[in-house]
Amino acid sequence: MLTTQHTTAQQLYETLKNIKVGGTVCHYSLKKCEEFVPLINEINELKEEKKAVILVHSYVSPEIIYGVGDFVGDSYILSKKALNTEANTIVFSAVRFMGETAKALNPEKDVLLPGELDGCTLADSINAKIVRKLRKEYPDHTFVCYINTTADVKAECDVCVTSSNVYKVIENIPNDKIYFLPDKMMGQNLVAEMKRRGHNKDIQYYNGTCTVHIEYDLDTVFRIRTEYPNVKVVSHPECKPEVCDQSDFVGSTSQMLDYMMETTSKEFLMLTECGLSARLQNEFPDKKLVGTCTLCPYMKSNTLEDVLRVLKNPNPSDYVHIDPKSLQNARKCIEAIDRKSTRLNSSHIPLSRMPSS
Ligand code: 13P
Ligand code: SF4
Repeated sequence: MLTTQHTTAQQLYETLKNIKVGGTVCHYSLKKCEEFVPLINEINELKEEKKAVILVHSYVSPEIIYGVGDFVGDSYILSKKALNTEANTIVFSAVRFMGETAKALNPEKDVLLPGELDGCTLADSINAKIVRKLRKEYPDHTFVCYINTTADVKAECDVCVTSSNVYKVIENIPNDKIYFLPDKMMGQNLVAEMKRRGHNKDIQYYNGTCTVHIEYDLDTVFRIRTEYPNVKVVSHPECKPEVCDQSDFVGSTSQMLDYMMETTSKEFLMLTECGLSARLQNEFPDKKLVGTCTLCPYMKSNTLEDVLRVLKNPNPSDYVHIDPKSLQNARKCIEAIDRKSTRLNSSHIPLSRMPSS
């Protein structure tokens, strides 16, 4: 649990100073923290006043996570947090599909998206019309969508999975014919994992990819292993199958974080977005991250200025709207996760509120 209170720029700087943003050379200065603090204090005051909760994905910039976030974690867990909150308004600092998941689970609440670029290459690779066409081509298949899809796409599918429960959910589906969408890499990893687990399923998959995870290749893994013989290679299931195959651990962002926490090794190559590496640098300063990471332009388009703007004076386009018919079906698809899986990824870190001063 993080209990850091940042009443001053110096205190914020103490939290952020070890974080190398997007590489080994860029870091936070005290001067930058002095610019952040007035915004942070205003956001935290408004948050109290408006009974809002701020949910932040781990890929979002550290000044948002540690400055104003109430919960940090992956999208489904953050939505679950939203379900149990007293808040009237949810500010979802992440990307649109995550905001839509929160809205589908909390239709009566206002969900606001501060990100300027709220898309995602993976979620935007497919739409409801394509799914309807695929369902005609594969009428006997159970359609499983990754949580990284729009509400309209979820509304056309049978069950939704997250990066933390994809294998568990799919191995428990009685139908042996599965159509998985939209991530091709995750689809290929799924085929390999089901074989490893002794399941003989006919798994078809779509051809979407994540702009961040597709960047990592085997050469990097081999180079880093030569340079750091004791390194643990940790990858996300959106990485290429050959990369996952050569990794010590594959899991969701929260599971990657748990693995690092539970493993005694000191050196890690984290094959995911830089935001997770930033959290790790702050929360596990005794561990060393090696190699580089890739930035998600969509997650990183969230700024403190925009969080303040959506709380203070939101534009109509800042609110998440879902067509009522899609909303019901999308909700059913998301809720099917709980019926099909025994354990959801539970890694989330409640953050303290920054007192206004
Ligand atoms: P997680 O659900 O593992 O946090 O992943 C989210 C995401 O967008 C991965 O690219
Ligand atoms: Fe989408 Fe990839 Fe960015 Fe996640 S990291 S939001 S999957 S583009």
